[in-house]
Amino acid sequence: MDLFSQIENPEREEILALRKELEQANYQYYVLNAPTMSDYDFDQKLRRLQDLEALYPDMFDLNSPTQHVGSDLIEAKGERLKVKGTEKGKGKGFAQVAHRYPMLSLANTYSQEEIEDWLRKLPANVEIVCELKYDGLSISLWYENGTLTKALTRGDGVKGDNVIDNIKTIAAIPQHMQALESEVQIPDFVELRGEVLLSWESFERLNKEREAQGDALFANPRNAASGTLKLQDPNEVARRGLDCYLYYMLGEELPATKHYDRLQIAKQWGFPISDAVKVCHSLEEVMAYIHYWDTERKNLPVATDGIVLKVNDLSTQEELGYTAKSPRWAIAYKFPAEKQLTRLNAITYQVGRTGVVTPVANLEPVQLSGTIVQRATLHNEDFIRQLDIREGDMVWVEKGGEIIPKIVSVEPRTKSQEPRPISNDRTDEGDKSLLLAPYSIFPKNCPECGTPLVRVEGEAAWRCPNEASCPPQIKGKMEHFVSRKAMNIDGLGSETIDLLYSQGLLHNIADIYDLKQDDIARQERLGEKSAQNMLAGIEASKQVPWARVLFALGIRMVGETTAKKIARRFPSIDQLQWANVEQLTAIDDVGEQIAKNIIAYFNDLSNLEIINRLREAGVQMESQEEEQAPQSDILQGKSIVVSGVFSHHSRDEYKAMIEAHGGKNVGSVSKKTSFILAGENMGPEKRKKAESLGVEILTEEQFLELIKN
Ligand code: IVH
Repeated sequence: MDLFSQIENPEREEILALRKELEQANYQYYVLNAPTMSDYDFDQKLRRLQDLEALYPDMFDLNSPTQHVGSDLIEAKGERLKVKGTEKGKGKGFAQVAHRYPMLSLANTYSQEEIEDWLRKLPANVEIVCELKYDGLSISLWYENGTLTKALTRGDGVKGDNVIDNIKTIAAIPQHMQALESEVQIPDFVELRGEVLLSWESFERLNKEREAQGDALFANPRNAASGTLKLQDPNEVARRGLDCYLYYMLGEELPATKHYDRLQIAKQWGFPISDAVKVCHSLEEVMAYIHYWDTERKNLPVATDGIVLKVNDLSTQEELGYTAKSPRWAIAYKFPAEKQLTRLNAITYQVGRTGVVTPVANLEPVQLSGTIVQRATLHNEDFIRQLDIREGDMVWVEKGGEIIPKIVSVEPRTKSQEPRPISNDRTDEGDKSLLLAPYSIFPKNCPECGTPLVRVEGEAAWRCPNEASCPPQIKGKMEHFVSRKAMNIDGLGSETIDLLYSQGLLHNIADIYDLKQDDIARQERLGEKSAQNMLAGIEASKQVPWARVLFALGIRMVGETTAKKIARRFPSIDQLQWANVEQLTAIDDVGEQIAKNIIAYFNDLSNLEIINRLREAGVQMESQEEEQAPQSDILQGKSIVVSGVFSHHSRDEYKAMIEAHGGKNVGSVSKKTSFILAGENMGPEKRKKAESLGVEILTEEQFLELIKN
């Protein structure tokens, strides 16, 4: 394969684009609990990616979302994560523990034909266990000598967060297995896997409370359960009332040779096992089960999103084995999305932080998969044109994975509503007198500030170009500026920005550094203490290095990594300000459009004024020498292997510490290795090798002690 055809081939590009999109969707779903893509869309895209990867085996990549499950680790990507939302105590992180057995996902399908195909390919006369697919989050419970010792989330499938204190609040989960009820002896070790859920009732109660307190609402019970399980306050978790069903048993010397029998034994040990589990012997029985539960599930107290089919016999399961992501002995059939017809009452327009104007459908409220829907995005003008959608139309709304509703089609209009010319043509509004029904025109001016909108060639979006004074854009810029990966200003969140903006105290990012204790403290919702916190956060932000300041400025398309690369090439803002397109595009990752955006940014006088004010306030506008220099040379000349799962810092953080103290990170143990920094569950091979070579093994604590001195 020559380089040229690799670049030109749109399918290869699609593979890369899909991988990126799905990674992002996984992150939104598992880590932030704020999904942006419906399960259905995700599954379709994943399937497309699988098909394309099969066509281009040379593009195989272990990091592709087809090869691993999404990660819900609080410290995903090696960084402490501030989880969005107003949840108290969130985001502190849990101890990460390696799974004894990888936690996989399930292959799934929305097609009954594919279920038939899957069944046909199995050995003749196999028994199939049918179960409900509960829509919560998976949990792995470890019982050692009958006592619950660990409760791990799926994490990245290899290691998970130990959320045992929260799990102990779930009444359905026994902290000690019951020996008496069961004839079967309790094993030394057994792992039970299942789903943690929040009932529809608890979900609705929780959302009502949140609404009353002005907190963001959870989109569905799954998100609510996931957000709850990651709280740091077990009392609050207990109050919310999580529930659980278990569906799988793992271990070395366990009783029974069939999955179904194991579940029944688990039930006798006191575990919550669903009564809906059934052994089926034919395709007909399986289909009858699916059809029965497709309707009946609406009467269940908890959310389900499909049916799981599993081969009953455990040795047959073993023969069938696993793919990288899922067992071959199981498959999930997902229920088709529910659709509803409702009236599109009005189209309104929302201006985002980058100035993009998004049309929003305001619908006659309808009940859909257990939640009420009254708004849906219309994406952009092209989408409105393609569906030929107008105010007053009856539209079909669908909730793919029961998350974000979308409009999928428009009901044909009745005679009395026609004729209706395409009205959103910006050069000619059309003759309104011809119209019998209300209709929509994409606005010519920004609904927030009145500035004429522009449409960048090649982009679908209309944009408000008034970056400097359009309210949602100003507020969005400030929110970005204070965010964790930018200036990381504690005590100044989006609500406070809103408040201070409406009080006329903040107009742009430079104003943040002019805030005075009294100005803040006299606000009704703030007071002395918050004022002190905020000012301390603002003061601390003056130490934020230049690369992050550059990211914080919010120049369009200059993300965190790009900013780092630019800052390395241009170690001060004075140098960057005069850079031309050639110099900029010579930097890795910087294309022509980014270069133009940077130049346009510095050509705008209001930006230069802001930069000057930031500089005067003491914000870092150039690299400090210490940024590159090591913090000490205590590890000078040492080659160090980092292995295992850690609880105080992530593996990447340890690697960064080693470098900052002059040491070198190496991947494998040899006689040149100075020592191994070992966490929990360090690989047994590495340990053996280290012992045979006499290489010293340090624990996390010993290592931290070492660099402290
Ligand atoms: S079995 C190795 N059974 O669905 C296979 N999973 O999409 C383990 N789920 O991660 C999964 N109900 O969180 C199984 N009855 C059930 C299930 C179930 C819900 C979840 C589970 C899994 C996900 C896969």
